[in-house]
Amino acid sequence: MEFNGYLLSLRLKQENLPNGYPFNIPCLKSFEKLDFHPNVTFFTGENGVGKSTLIEAIAVSLGFNAEGGSKNFNFTSKATHSELHHYLTISKSFRKPKDGFFLRGESFYNVASEIDKLDEEPSFGPKLIESYGGVSLHEQSHGQSFWSLFMNRFGGSGVYILDEPESALSATKQIAMLSKLDNLIDKNAQFIITTHSPILLAYPNATIYEMADGKITKVKYEESEIYRVYKSFLDHPKRILDNLFSSNT
Ligand SMILES: Nc1ncnc2c1ncn2[C@@H]1O[C@H](COP(=O)(O)OP(=O)(O)OP(=O)(O)O)[C@@H](O)[C@H]1O
Ligand SMILES: [Mg+2]
Repeated sequence: MEFNGYLLSLRLKQENLPNGYPFNIPCLKSFEKLDFHPNVTFFTGENGVGKSTLIEAIAVSLGFNAEGGSKNFNFTSKATHSELHHYLTISKSFRKPKDGFFLRGESFYNVASEIDKLDEEPSFGPKLIESYGGVSLHEQSHGQSFWSLFMNRFGGSGVYILDEPESALSATKQIAMLSKLDNLIDKNAQFIITTHSPILLAYPNATIYEMADGKITKVKYEESEIYRVYKSFLDHPKRILDNLFSSNT
């Protein structure tokens, strides 16, 4: 239980921020310091508030490839990442992570290709795919390949940065993911996760930052927009649908 995390906090340099992307995104210029939870830090909020831009900048400032993967991956397909990482400072504890992975929602395909490519090159060691479950990630469904990665590749003692990891997963798998997450945290893993999932967001040993109205605010699970919207829909789907459709006539 003693483990207290590798990453402590994130600061944004406030002076002389340039104009244009990403500083035209209100949430990304409005904070000074955010504390990381030693177990899980979530970022949630509407589409387009800047979650992926922020989490990618955190990953890049920690030395991950902007397109995702472990720190050994250095392929690029398109340099689309922002300059935000130049303006971030991450405070770290004395503990050093032994493992790490950045899962960038939009380029998981490229990570799968990179693993296949590296495995085609001559090498004396075991094939890389063995640590991802043994079956090419391209030969599995989107959900299956993510599940192989999560169940086989992540071993604990590391920092894992995940952008919408639920996007490929059924609700049942998302619940199973909570169990594996807890297991990895017992093995000294620290996570930073963006999510739209009311299931993942329920993980209790976590800080939730909601990005809305140009601010990044710490909220409790039940106060989060995700929780409130899903709850009101699932409690009264018929009432909500009737309201929606009546305004169409
Ligand atoms: N390379 C880019 N150049 C210019 N603008 C960009 C670039 N990438 C993203 N944006 C813009 O920045 C804003 C934030 O995008 P971002 O992908 O960070 O949102 P998000 O919160 O992750 O949304 P979602 O929930 O849909 O994944 C959006 O308005 C987007 O159009
Ligand atoms: Mg995103």
